[in-house]
Amino acid sequence: MNFNYKCSAFFLVAFSLLQFACSSSENVQQQSKITPDNEVVQLAEENLEKAAAQYKVLMERLPEGRFPKTYYAEKDSLETSGSEWWVSGFYPGTLLYLYEETGDEQLLNEAMRIMKVLEKEKFNTDTHDLGFMMFDSFGNAYRINPSEEYKDIIIQSAKSLISRYDPKVGAIRSWNSKPEDFLVIIDNMMNLDMLFWATEQTGDSTYYNIAVEHANTTMENHFREDNSTWHVLNYDPETGEVQEKKTAQGYSDESAWARGQAWGLYGYTDMYRETGDEKYLEQANKIADFIFNHPNMPEDKVAYWDFNAPNIPDVLRDASAAAIMASALLELSEYVEGEKSQEYFNNAEQIIRTLSTPEYVAAPGTNGGFILKHSVGSLPADSEVDVPLTYGDYYYVEALKRYKEYGK
Ligand code: GLY
Repeated sequence: MNFNYKCSAFFLVAFSLLQFACSSSENVQQQSKITPDNEVVQLAEENLEKAAAQYKVLMERLPEGRFPKTYYAEKDSLETSGSEWWVSGFYPGTLLYLYEETGDEQLLNEAMRIMKVLEKEKFNTDTHDLGFMMFDSFGNAYRINPSEEYKDIIIQSAKSLISRYDPKVGAIRSWNSKPEDFLVIIDNMMNLDMLFWATEQTGDSTYYNIAVEHANTTMENHFREDNSTWHVLNYDPETGEVQEKKTAQGYSDESAWARGQAWGLYGYTDMYRETGDEKYLEQANKIADFIFNHPNMPEDKVAYWDFNAPNIPDVLRDASAAAIMASALLELSEYVEGEKSQEYFNNAEQIIRTLSTPEYVAAPGTNGGFILKHSVGSLPADSEVDVPLTYGDYYYVEALKRYKEYGK
């Protein structure tokens, strides 16, 4: 979730007039002097408008009490989940971002409706995905309209998340497993933002310290010499030693699964923002260098689903990975100076330009109401392959907003 551009909004006259007070994070200095390109700002604005119209199509199709997952065009089938599935926060989160852009209350009302269904997950201790689920939804809702109700929900969610922390390993457990295994995936970096927020709100440093421990353990073990990341690490829960390094969603245990690299990039950018600790900035820079200097990164900067997939260039792209990278890079480019900043900004801008073409952005009324086409959930499991995905949409919309608001 985007807390780089911290805003508090005061709702006046039935949510119709907004007054924003924005400031950047207190922990870090923003360095960049780049001015966004007017043409791309306009492109972002047009695509945010289109996205809002698309989500109205999606909301019409959504069955009561269900959350969107993906859409299969050949069967005209909208696939949905219950609130417990890891993607449940992206739909309300995207609606809230689009509401902020358009002021359209239909989007806000739909976000409020679905968040009532989602709220019970604050007690879910069976998943590490609570940051995605509860912070991209209720975190954005609180940012727009700070209320005790949302605050309590997020703090309860943070409590549930830290119940999965093990001090012997120094990490939060990702997936449940056999007792002799302790699985941590790189994706888990994305759930830490909510813990920093919980400390900020409660003054209880437990959340902050757990987030830092998790990030440090991950930094120590999860990255290869070339700064790419493994997907899954299996720690010994008794000793905290790493017993396996492998993949679940990538091409192979030693390959660089594109979305995993994107989660790492975004996660360590978050860590730098929240702590001001330069070692996290350095880690984010190293990940960015791996991704964007990779010989298999295409000119248009929308990554193949795995950097080491055989038969590149004749393999699928992952629009979701590209969207996450663009959003993260726009933030990271503000924390570095000179050529580095420009390079990150240019790469993010290139991703936005590519994803905003008809190759990736769905024509109005198509794609089941999702915004982007061509993401890959899990190719090895033959699940959600070359389809729209809620998180592709969420981070694309976030990247468009970040581009528009860049430097402000
Ligand atoms: N967090 C699961 C995924 O990225 O597919």
